[in-house]
Amino acid sequence: MRVPAASIVFNDDDIAEALSLIESSLRSGQLTLGKHGQAFEESFAQRCGRAHAVAVSSGTSAIEIVLRACGIESGEVIVPDNTFFATAAAVVHAGARPVFADTDRDTLAVDVDDVLSRITPQTKAVVVVHIGGIVSPELPRLATECAARGIQLICDAAHAHGATLDGKDASNWGIASTYSFYPTKVMTSGEGGMIVTDDERIADEARVYRDQGKAGFTSNFHTRLGANWRLSEVHAAIGLVQLKRLNEFIERRRQIAAVYDDLLPRETNLTAVPCQRLDSSNFYKYVAYLPAGVDRAALKATMRERFEVGMSGEVYEFPLHAQPVFEPFVSGSYPVSDDVCARQVCLPVSARMTTDDARYVVESLARTISGG
Ligand SMILES: Cc1ncc(COP(=O)(O)O)c(C=O)c1O
Repeated sequence: MRVPAASIVFNDDDIAEALSLIESSLRSGQLTLGKHGQAFEESFAQRCGRAHAVAVSSGTSAIEIVLRACGIESGEVIVPDNTFFATAAAVVHAGARPVFADTDRDTLAVDVDDVLSRITPQTKAVVVVHIGGIVSPELPRLATECAARGIQLICDAAHAHGATLDGKDASNWGIASTYSFYPTKVMTSGEGGMIVTDDERIADEARVYRDQGKAGFTSNFHTRLGANWRLSEVHAAIGLVQLKRLNEFIERRRQIAAVYDDLLPRETNLTAVPCQRLDSSNFYKYVAYLPAGVDRAALKATMRERFEVGMSGEVYEFPLHAQPVFEPFVSGSYPVSDDVCARQVCLPVSARMTTDDARYVVESLARTISGG
């Protein structure tokens, strides 16, 4: 593949540093909840500008832990219809009922007015997702509306490492934000997740939940229905090394996005999602809408087979209301989700790409669309 859809970057220095951290864990025998995990937490909290960070096994467990730490183990939780399975699955695993809200075309995030229209006396929380690394300019309004009604706001920031809104880190809103370090993300630890919060009680509860609900590391006294949601020292070591590169990764992704912003409207009939901004998105994804009537599967196949450009993965191809597993939770219609999920494509972005690669992607798209 000349330009893969995504790729992970570990240079020789980073590999050497990760190996040396892992070696120190192997030699000390401290393989979980040790000094690498602590260092990863401290550095991540600092990067986000938050008081606390708690490292966990995945972005999915991070969401469930925050819900449980907020006491949300029943009732309704409003989640985006346009998100990954895990956002809603975590709500179900915590014991609550997900209620899907329709999508805002300009940000791919939840439509705030649709969220407000779905609030009932059973609503305990709203979970938002910064899709593709865009923090919605509507988020502060949603935060105010939730606070006025005593409803918790939780941010699933699995896409949003280092993304901002009005100069504030994505983790600035809500009781807590949750991150994923799955290998497709802007930075990775192999597997892993992080909870960041300014709320000391939530951080303390999260530490209890992640370690089988134990009151203390060495005790055998279980006060919460936790699970094994710990992050190993090996994963923490990889995460620490990647975190040092986060700013570089975002900078390079923005350079790629700048080329797309410049060339797409001039050379193709694709329209970039409007709120993807060079000064705030981390460009986990670069999302554009195809004009009505273009066959997305055929376009992607030509891009792959003729031009060797990977365009795998939308955010998302199927909204949650169309996922068979969530059928019991569907109510009402989701016209914007249906449209944005059907018409979007994600252009390749990675910290390994060059601006020449980005130009080649647009040129290939233009030729694919024109049939030339
Ligand atoms: C929006 C969103 N939420 C949650 C998750 C779950 O993260 P993980 O795979 O680390 O459990 C992901 C990604 O994989 C995601 O994209």
